[in-house]
Amino acid sequence: MPAAGRGERLGPGAPKALRELGGVPLLVHAVRALARSRAVGLVVVAAPADGVAEVVGLLDSHGLDGKDVRVVAGGATRQESVRLGLAAIPSEVEIVLVHDAARPLVPVEVVDAVAAAVRAGAEAVVPAVPLADTVKRVEPNPGLPEPVLDTPDRATLRAVQTPQGFRRETLAEVHARALAEEARGGLPPVTDDAGLVERFGGRVVVVPGHEEAFKVTRPLDLVLAEAVLARRRASDGY
Ligand code: CTP
Ligand code: MG
Repeated sequence: MPAAGRGERLGPGAPKALRELGGVPLLVHAVRALARSRAVGLVVVAAPADGVAEVVGLLDSHGLDGKDVRVVAGGATRQESVRLGLAAIPSEVEIVLVHDAARPLVPVEVVDAVAAAVRAGAEAVVPAVPLADTVKRVEPNPGLPEPVLDTPDRATLRAVQTPQGFRRETLAEVHARALAEEARGGLPPVTDDAGLVERFGGRVVVVPGHEEAFKVTRPLDLVLAEAVLARRRASDGY
């Protein structure tokens, strides 16, 4: 679980993973959401490098269904945080899910579906949902009117979420290759792990995601997350 980001788009405050939702840190929600799945046996959290002890304390003080949880120091990019977390997973583990701490409310059905698709033979699986908005490609020119290049057919687009699931071997290999390329001054980091598999010619498949697996990125997302959590607590004792 990459959880080492600052959360700059959320505005000033604590690192995003430590910000609270219904009185509980986002990170704790996200770990619980994974731990709810019978497919998950161990959760490795990549915490902010200066916040490892704090995260260990937080996880100790919130009950986590008896699942094994470990905390490592994350890195300067999401990609590096995932690589560092992966290095802490015991060698016998064959399937790895990568889940953003910033997606605290992912339903267990999504976690189960991703894990099941990897078990069934896919090397890389991403949950995704259709887009509500039409998307245009532009020549980026922030603050000024931006020329439109074209409009991809919305029916072929998906907004991808996490957890993304992988054969461990595949994920470790693409991260190692990306690191080697980076050292040669090559390609920029990707924003999701499946993107690395695609970059190196692997095959990625999509399974249905869920609207409640959205990522808390901007202040409005926290408002929405509070509302979803309040509804769950009122209706099913979540
Ligand atoms: N992440 C990480 N290490 C980093 C950067 C990001 O582990 N160096 C994690 C975040 O903690 C988050 C996930 O990657 O759980 C998705 O990233 P994002 O939503 O971009 O979070 P932040 O990078 O924290 O937010 P921002 O980009 O607004 O600063
Ligand atoms: Mg970020």
